[in-house]
Formats: sequence, structure tokens, C-alpha cells
Amino acid sequence: MIDIENLQKRFGDHQVLHGVDLHVDAGEVVCLIGPSGSGKSTVLRCINGLESYDGGEIRAFGERVDCNSRDIHRLRSRMGMVFQRFNLFPHRTALENVMEGPIYVRGEDRGAARERAMALLDKVGLAAKASAHPAQLSGGQQQRVAIARALAMQPEAMLFDEPTSALDPELVGDVLEVMRSLAREGMTMIVVTHEMGFAREVADRVCFLHGGKIVEEGAAAQVLGSPRHARTQDFLRRVLHKPAEAAGGFA
Ligand SMILES: Nc1ncnc2c1ncn2[C@@H]1O[C@H](COP(=O)(O)OP(=O)(O)O)[C@@H](O)[C@H]1O
Ligand SMILES: [Mg+2]
Repeated sequence: MIDIENLQKRFGDHQVLHGVDLHVDAGEVVCLIGPSGSGKSTVLRCINGLESYDGGEIRAFGERVDCNSRDIHRLRSRMGMVFQRFNLFPHRTALENVMEGPIYVRGEDRGAARERAMALLDKVGLAAKASAHPAQLSGGQQQRVAIARALAMQPEAMLFDEPTSALDPELVGDVLEVMRSLAREGMTMIVVTHEMGFAREVADRVCFLHGGKIVEEGAAAQVLGSPRHARTQDFLRRVLHKPAEAAGGFA
């Protein structure tokens, strides 16, 4: 469904992706992990045509992803993207945020869009908050509205870029639960995350990115449980021993 071969990307003189290969089949959940600056967001942004690339090829749904093509909006609309920051419209209710895309981009009938938006809010556990404005919602609730908004466009694949890393720890679980249920329903997903428990449980495959390359890739249990590459081992040691715990040791 998504096929990346030898992806190269430069920002000016700075080469940030050095030949990334990634193949994602329909219904697969692939987690991308790796240190900050390793190129995870750039890979996702290239996949949905928010960023151009300098070499290699990305194909989505059998079509070449080319951010300069006239068709890029149509291709992009087949992929839902959820970012670390939710970017909801502040002056619209949760329901209106979810209805907006289907009405203005897809030209859907208002009544039908409202009905589906309600069903999606229900799915993410927020039916009772339909008329709340973003400022009245917690970060976790706003992120769930953002997921409902992406799903309202009826995407064939979902790309998540650290969807829980801006959230207070107690709000992370509800967002992961929504993602877990999407995975169970067979949604094709590429998820950049630092939530190793989630990756281990939900991902079919985990790819570890370092310095703009995938240095290790395999079944979640293998990559996270018995990583082969020294860099993966080192990274996992660091993320699994959170600073808070280390600090606790010195207290
Ligand atoms: N728009 C940009 N202009 C210049 N450099 C960028 C831009 N976006 C990302 N980079 C650089 O590309 C590298 C990879 O960034 P990114 O994909 O955001 O990494 P990650 O998501 O893994 O933290 C970093 O060195 C970053 O500074
Ligand atoms: Mg990033």
C-alpha cells in the first residue's frame, strides 16, 4: 500500500535521509522509532507529500507521491495525518471540527457529515463533548477529536507523528486506546512513537531509524525485545530508563 525505495532527502547541504526503504501492506501497523533528529517526521512528511524528496521513490496506493504534482491533494486525502499538536479550529466545536473537512473538501451533504462526525466522536469516546470548544477539552480529548477529524475524510491509511508526546502522562492511555482499536479494525498505520509498550503490543513491525537510515527492522517482539544492532540497544536502554526514574534513584 505504501512503498518507499531508497528515499533521499536534503535540507540545503544537510542530507537527512540516506536511503530509506519501507514497505507497508494494507492492514499493517508499522511503528517508526528512533532518536530525535533521526528523520522520522521527515519520512512521514515525504509520504504524504508535505515535503519533496531528492532521490528514490515513494508510491502510495500504486501512485507515485510527488508533492509538485497536480494530483497531490487527492492522493494526500487518502492518508490521514495526526501530529503531535492537534491544530483544531479554536472557534469551532468538536463536532464542527470533525464535520468541516467532509463538507468543505469532499463536498458532502451537511446532514450526512454531521451524522458521521457524531458517530466518529462516539468512537473516540467523546460523544458527550460534541458541542465543546477545544479550549474546554484536555489535550488528550483534543487529540482524540483530531483523530476523529482525520477519520472523517475516510482515509485508507493513517500516519501518526508522536501523537501522545505533547500530552500529560495520564492522558496518553485514552489516545493509545483509540489507536489500538483502529489497528484492530484493520486500518493501515504508520506510527512514530516513543510508547514502546504500545509498539510492542500493536505493531506488526518496528523500524528503528538512526541518522536518516533504517538500521534495524523486524517483528516488534524481536526489535524491542532482543535488538541486534548496538544503536537500537543503546536507544532502547535510554528510552526505557526514563529520566524521572533515574532522578528517583538519586533522590
Ligand atoms: N524544514 C527543515 N529545514 C531544515 N532542516 C530540517 C527541516 N526539517 C527537519 N530538518 C532536520 O532534519 C533532521 C531530521 O528531522 P526530523 O525528521 O524532524 O527528525 P525526527 O522526527 O526523527 O526528530 C534534523 O536534523 C532536523 O533538524
Ligand atoms: Mg519528529
